[in-house]
Amino acid sequence: MQPHGVTVCIEKLNKSFGGNHVLKDVDLEVRAGETFSIIGPSGTGKSILLRHIIGLETADSGRILINEEPHGKLPRSYRSSMVFQSSALFNSLTVGENIGLWLREHRIYPEQRILEIIAEKLAIVGLEGKEELRTSELSGGMKKRVAIARSLAMEPDLVLYDEPTAELDPVTTDELAETIVSLRSRTSTTTIIVTHDLNFALYLSDRIAMMHQGRIVEVGTPREIKSSENPFVKGFIRTTTKGINGP
Ligand SMILES: Nc1ncnc2c1ncn2[C@@H]1O[C@H](COP(=O)(O)OP(=O)(O)O)[C@@H](O)[C@H]1O
Ligand SMILES: [Mg+2]
Repeated sequence: MQPHGVTVCIEKLNKSFGGNHVLKDVDLEVRAGETFSIIGPSGTGKSILLRHIIGLETADSGRILINEEPHGKLPRSYRSSMVFQSSALFNSLTVGENIGLWLREHRIYPEQRILEIIAEKLAIVGLEGKEELRTSELSGGMKKRVAIARSLAMEPDLVLYDEPTAELDPVTTDELAETIVSLRSRTSTTTIIVTHDLNFALYLSDRIAMMHQGRIVEVGTPREIKSSENPFVKGFIRTTTKGINGP
């Protein structure tokens, strides 16, 4: 099954934890095949929104439609996978075993095809032939790329990343950006990235949404975000580029 890039439509989503109203009437539409980033300072509800999209949290009100089907409906007509901040690889397994784990558990393909898929996904993230490496020997950036290859092995229609650049140095962050840009042209998967890294989001996104205190305050292309007159967007850009542009 080839990935077919789903649409994600979020309508008036609300979520509170006790008295803490974390998501406030969130409306958002992500198009099929889009690379879409959600930016904003920490604590604004980005991760919680992502957890709703993948189905790990249930909203108090509002709904999420994926390919126009209400979230939670089974059987699902799409596959999603998430690249967690910590990469969450199994240290006792090799790189290849980590990537093939899901395929072997689900017995979708014969072993020969699984080996081909592992090789194919490793090549996509620039780690061709690294199947036998031990996961514990990898650098942070390589772990991240293995985690991406593992999520791609599921041939997902929707891939979600939570803070993919956290813990990465600038050079590795740049390599990761290139990896995601090349994925954009090689797959039709819909990609949603949550990040506080403005520069990263501007570089690789088709469109960006800015979150502030649980609300979406702006949506636009990188060019539109850069020239936005929205005070929250301007404030975020000013804070994150202070060292470059001066106070
Ligand atoms: N499981 C939870 N229980 C209670 N509060 C939570 C839970 N998860 C997140 N929150 C709260 O939701 C808010 C938004 O968190 P989060 O989505 O992680 O922010 P971000 O990813 O933008 O940094 C925070 O105030 C956080 O304390
Ligand atoms: Mg977060």
